[in-house]
Amino acid sequence: MFRIQPLVSVLLCCFTFWFHISFGYLITCSGIVPMRYRNDKVSITDFGGVGDGKTLNTKAFREAIYRIQHLRRRGGTLLYVPPGVYLTESFNLTSHMTLYLARGAVIKATQDTWKWPLVAPLPSYGRGRERPGGRYMSFIHGDGLRDVVITGENGTIDGQGGIWWNMWRQGNLQFTRPNLVEFMNSRGIIISNVIFKNSPFWNIHPVYCSNVVIRYVTILAPTDSPNTDGIDPDSSSNVCIEDSFISTGDDLVAVKSGWDEYGIAYGRPSSHITIRRVTGSSPFAGIAVGSETSGGVEHVLAENIVIYNSGIGVNIKTNIGRGGFIKNITVSQVFMENVRTGIKIAGDTGDHPDNRFNPNALPYVKGVTLKNIWGVKVQKAGSIQGLKDAPFTNICLSKINLHGMTGPRYPPWKCSDVSGAAIEVSPSPCAQLSSPQQSGSCANHF
Ligand SMILES: *[C@@H]1O[C@H](CO)[C@@H](O)[C@H](O)[C@H]1NC(C)=O
Ligand SMILES: *[C@@H]1O[C@H](CO)[C@@H](O)[C@H](O)[C@H]1NC(C)=O
Repeated sequence: MFRIQPLVSVLLCCFTFWFHISFGYLITCSGIVPMRYRNDKVSITDFGGVGDGKTLNTKAFREAIYRIQHLRRRGGTLLYVPPGVYLTESFNLTSHMTLYLARGAVIKATQDTWKWPLVAPLPSYGRGRERPGGRYMSFIHGDGLRDVVITGENGTIDGQGGIWWNMWRQGNLQFTRPNLVEFMNSRGIIISNVIFKNSPFWNIHPVYCSNVVIRYVTILAPTDSPNTDGIDPDSSSNVCIEDSFISTGDDLVAVKSGWDEYGIAYGRPSSHITIRRVTGSSPFAGIAVGSETSGGVEHVLAENIVIYNSGIGVNIKTNIGRGGFIKNITVSQVFMENVRTGIKIAGDTGDHPDNRFNPNALPYVKGVTLKNIWGVKVQKAGSIQGLKDAPFTNICLSKINLHGMTGPRYPPWKCSDVSGAAIEVSPSPCAQLSSPQQSGSCANHF
């Protein structure tokens, strides 16, 4: 099910090769957060941890982390999780620690959903994302931390989300489902060489964070699992995501910054977000910005992306009532195969937290550059639809080639309330983007 099709892998390989020869080296996230060597090491088994898949290890994890937090060894402490399946309830990490999963180590979430702790709603959302009031704490949680690493030899963090997805399907969720891993108000976070599986809700959620690196991760959830977004950088800055494979039931990467009047009041943007060499498949979007962008999103660069068997390749989405801004977004070097819609930029997406949202709070969308995008088996090239009272400006398409199922003929682009330019775009885009005098407005983007 998660096998990459041969054509995709050949092309991915060519892209990577081309990048090697054009730059001579691979650009990486290194440097954003220094990798720490931890002198002090403990194992979960030192705290009574048992990896038999049945024993509840909550006490072991909480005691190990309490020890790390209070002994405060110089240079921090590494918590080793040996091969085995460690069932546990949710737990909090602490600063200056590395959670290290050995090859064959699995940290597995308990199915006792009725015992799951609740935490306050995020101020930028005003309530839980799917239910009013508080929300269930993420399975692995961190608030106000610095210098935390989750890594190892590709061990697994398994949310056993099925029970939560069913509660959602049956409409008997009392509060918003837990994320798999969430960091709040934290800086200096590295997540690498870990497999994330079957999250109850979003997989990795850095919110109000800075300097976050996520690389060499694999994120898996069934196509029909509700809201299992891969990585959602939210009101965070200097986030770098690279060299990862994501196949879930919702957007693979979605950059966000709060919801309507709550996000506007909180006013914390997402900025300087880099996404590169990410491959995957989603029934919704591959690379997304939004739809919650009320604190603003700027300086996003996504490059060398491969999206296959998906709903939408690149999706920038906001709504009336969101306010905020989306500006300086660049997406380049994208290959897509078998997607319903190649590119979608829309001002009418997503729901509202309550009916107190301000209908006059219009989003400001300016400066979106999409270039070097190549697709095969694309059903619809795309649509770019701004708002009548807030047109999207400086929308620039360059060197885009989206092929249909059989040949180059398929529904044309749909555009409204948008201005910008298009250079070498096939099928040819709508008139709003193709007038030659407009191309000046894109000049500094190319
Ligand atoms: C974990 O963190 C949350 C939110 O910061 C807090 O409410 C909760 O009490 C903490 N739990 C433990 C066991 O420390
Ligand atoms: C873990 O997975 C990554 C890719 O996701 C791979 O590059 C790396 O070599 C793997 N590490 C080990 C120790 O198997």
